[in-house]
Amino acid sequence: MLSEKLKDETKTYHYETEVALIGRIKAIKDKQDYADLLKMFYGYFGGLEKHIDAAIDTTLMDDYHQRRKTSAIADDLQALDAPVPTVAGADNLPVIENHLQALGALYVIEGSTLGGKIISKMIGQKLDASNGEALTFFNSYGEDTVNMWNSFKQKMDAQAKTEAEQAAVVETANSTFKHFASWIARAN
Ligand code: HEM
Repeated sequence: MLSEKLKDETKTYHYETEVALIGRIKAIKDKQDYADLLKMFYGYFGGLEKHIDAAIDTTLMDDYHQRRKTSAIADDLQALDAPVPTVAGADNLPVIENHLQALGALYVIEGSTLGGKIISKMIGQKLDASNGEALTFFNSYGEDTVNMWNSFKQKMDAQAKTEAEQAAVVETANSTFKHFASWIARAN
C-alpha cells in the first residue's frame, strides 16, 4: 500500500528533519524565538501550499481546503504581533506539477500534524499563558488529528495504484523533506 511505502521510504529524511528541529525547539526561550520558528514554517509550507493548490485534483481529495495550514500559521504570528514573511519560491521547493506530486508534498505536510502535538507541548511549556492562543498550527486538528491522518491515508491509498504512480508520490515526498532540510539549515 502506498501509505506503508511512504512511511518506509521517507523514514531517513523524517529522522533528519526531526533532529534538525528538536534542537531548534529546545533552544526557544521566548515568544520572539517562537515567532522565528513559525516564520520558517510559514515560508516553506506557504510556498508548498501555493504549488499544491495549483496541481491537486480536489475531486480526489475533497477535504483539501480544510487541510491547509498557512492561514493557521499566519493567525499564530499575528497573535504574537510578528509580521508574516514572504513564502518560498520554486527554487526552494520540490517540483509539483501534477496531482501525484501534490499528494507527495501533502503527505509530508499532513504527517507533520502527528509531530505537531509533541512540538506544541514542548513550546507550550516555554511560553507564558497569554501566548497560548498562538499554538493553533502545532495543535493541528486537536483530538481529531489521528482521524484526519487516517482519512488522509485512506484517500491517498485509493489513488496511485501502479508502481510508477507510487514511485512518483514517494519521490516528491522525499524531495519535500530534502528541500525543507535545506530551508531549515538556511534559517538556523
Ligand atoms: C520535532 C519534530 C517532530 C517530531 C518529534 C515528530 C514526530 C513524529 C511522530 C511521533 C510521528 C508518528 C509516528 C507513528 O505514529 O508511526 C510522526 C509522523 C510523521 N511525521 Fe513527524 N515529527 C516531527 C516533525 C515533522 C515535520 C516537520 C514533518 C514534515 C515537514 C514531519 C512529517 C511526518 C510524517 C510525514 C509522518 C507520517 C509517517 C507515516 O507515514 O506514518 N514530522 N512524526
